Formats: sequence, C-alpha cells, structure tokens
Amino acid sequence: MKPSYRKHLNVLLPAFAALGVMIGLVAYSPKIYRVFCSATGYGGTTHRAYADPAVTSKKTVTVVFDTNVASDLPWRFEPEQRAVTVHLGEQKMVFFTAENLGSESIVSHATYNVTPNTSGPYFNKIQCFCFNEERLDPHQKIEMPVVFFVDPAFADDPDNHAVNTITLSYTLLRSVNPSQSKNLARFLPNAPPDPVHGKQLFSERCTACHELDANKTGPLLGGVVGRRAGTVPGYHYSPALQNARLVWSGDNLDRWLADPKKFVPGARMPVRVLDAPSRHDLVAYLQSVGQKSDRTGSNKAAPGGEF
Ligand code: HEC
Repeated sequence: MKPSYRKHLNVLLPAFAALGVMIGLVAYSPKIYRVFCSATGYGGTTHRAYADPAVTSKKTVTVVFDTNVASDLPWRFEPEQRAVTVHLGEQKMVFFTAENLGSESIVSHATYNVTPNTSGPYFNKIQCFCFNEERLDPHQKIEMPVVFFVDPAFADDPDNHAVNTITLSYTLLRSVNPSQSKNLARFLPNAPPDPVHGKQLFSERCTACHELDANKTGPLLGGVVGRRAGTVPGYHYSPALQNARLVWSGDNLDRWLADPKKFVPGARMPVRVLDAPSRHDLVAYLQSVGQKSDRTGSNKAAPGGEF
C-alpha cells in the first residue's frame, strides 16, 4: 500500500469507528438514558430496593402523589391518599386504585418520576405496580400497594436542604409489550397465593440472612411451617423468640412478616413485608419447601440466581 493511502486510512478508520459509535448511541440513547437515570436518579427516576436501611431518622418529608392516564387508555387511576408524611428511612405503604372502564382486557405500563429531580436518587420503591406491565380485566377495580422509603442520606445532600415535599408522579400508558404482562387481579383480597412469586421474593428479600438448610444471620427456614419458633439447633435466638411459645402456622408467619418486632416484642429480625399479597406468596413458598427430608441434595429447593 502506498504510504499516502495508509496515511488516509489512519485518519479515516478512526473517523468511521467514531461515526459507528455515535450512530449506536443515537439508536440506543433512550435505553442508555433510562439505564443511566435509574442508576443515578438523574431526571427524577427512582430506585428499586429490596429492604429499607433499618435506620429511621427524626427528619420527615412529605410525599405527594400525582396520577395521570394517557387519553387512549380507558382507565380510572387515583391515589387513595393525596400525601403522606414519612420519617427518612421509614418504610411506608400507600395504595392506588385502578379501574378498567372499558369492555376488554387492557395491559398498561406506568412511567414515573419524582420532583424535584434531586430527590430521585434517595427515593426507593420496594413494591410497585410500575415494575411490570399490568393487565386489568374489563370493569375490574383493584387497589394496588406501593411500598417505598426515602433514604436518610437525603437530609445530608445540600441540594435537598430546602426540600420538604417530594411529588411522586405516575402516568399510565397503553403497553407496547402486552405479552409480558402480569394480572392485577393478584392484588384482590381473595386472590390465591403464588408460591413461584414467593420464591422470587424469598430470593430477593430473605436470602441476605436466611437459607433453607443452613443457619446464617437468621435461622434456617426449610420446614419452618409447623415448627416451633426459636428451636433450630445451633442458632442463637433472641430470648424473646426463644420463649415465644409459638408454632409457625401460615397465619403466624403472616403476622411475623408484617412486623416481627410488634408480633414478638424483643425479636431481632429487622425486616418487614408490608403488603399482604407479597406475604401470602412468601408463606405459600415456605409451605411448599416443606420439611428438611423433602429436599434432596444440599440446596435444591433454595432459590438460586434464576430470577
Ligand atoms: C437482615 C436479616 C434478615 C432478613 C433479610 C430476614 N430475616 Fe428472618 N430472621 C432474622 C433474624 C436475626 C431472626 C432471628 C430473630 C430472633 O432471634 O429474634 C430471623 C427469624 C426469622 C423467622 C423465625 C424462625 C424460627 O426459627 O423461629 C422466620 C420465620 C423468618 N425470619 C422469616 C424471614 C423471611 C420470610 C424473610 C424474607 C422476607 C426474612 N426472614 C428476612 C433476620 C433476617
């Protein structure tokens, strides 16, 4: 190759490569922007969390709820409370109502943001209908729980010193990806529990401290249903749980998960599952994993990273 061609190529190749990267960035920019926003909270996007920070501050903030529905979606969608005041770090459950006014099943998708934008990085949702595409059958009306907390670090951020109110806004749109939907009927009070979802929740919200067949920060939980509380050999329980004289029935587990320290004052489990449908699914999963002898191998029934 003539040296002058090589010189041109040395300039042209990097230029084409840079052009390719730019075209790629433009093509994928909405996606990249979304990933960037949910990682940083930039643009008022919020975070997803699996547990609260277990510390609550004396400081409070008021969260105001705002709902909007796209004009082509025949749904009514409203918060059941206009605003709540929460302590920073405190886990809070609020409800939204959705009703399908149309005569066909429709899948919707919720977009959301918080204002001011500077509060986005501190706003964490543990439970939200906005995590999925959601289906609502004709004329069905559902109460949907949202569980969130505002990170205590919010108070240390100079950008938020003057902020007393955060507005959480949802907009419901028709889904462009309806095949991936979940049915909102799972939030009906008489909905059957879903052990498969319970297994997913167990892996997201319990395995930091529990396994099915080994003690960790918490006692092993394989075969917990029907077991007396505070009796796993080799685990060092709080005196409160050890002396609780409880047997873990489905009902007792539900009350424990809703608020362990209220159900057994002096107990040491720092986790609460505020919404009833998630608790029902978790209990159904714990029922399904049964006794130790039901499980062959070391960790077969334990949730792995498959969700
Ligand atoms: C941050 C750690 C942590 C997480 C996360 C956690 N637990 Fe626990 N759990 C504990 C501790 C510690 C105890 C023992 C409490 C005591 O001794 O007072 C416990 C005890 C229990 C017990 C009583 C068991 C017995 O032998 O009496 C049950 C049931 C339980 N946890 C269920 C769950 C479920 C279900 C989840 C997930 C939603 C969960 N825990 C998440 C720490 C945790």
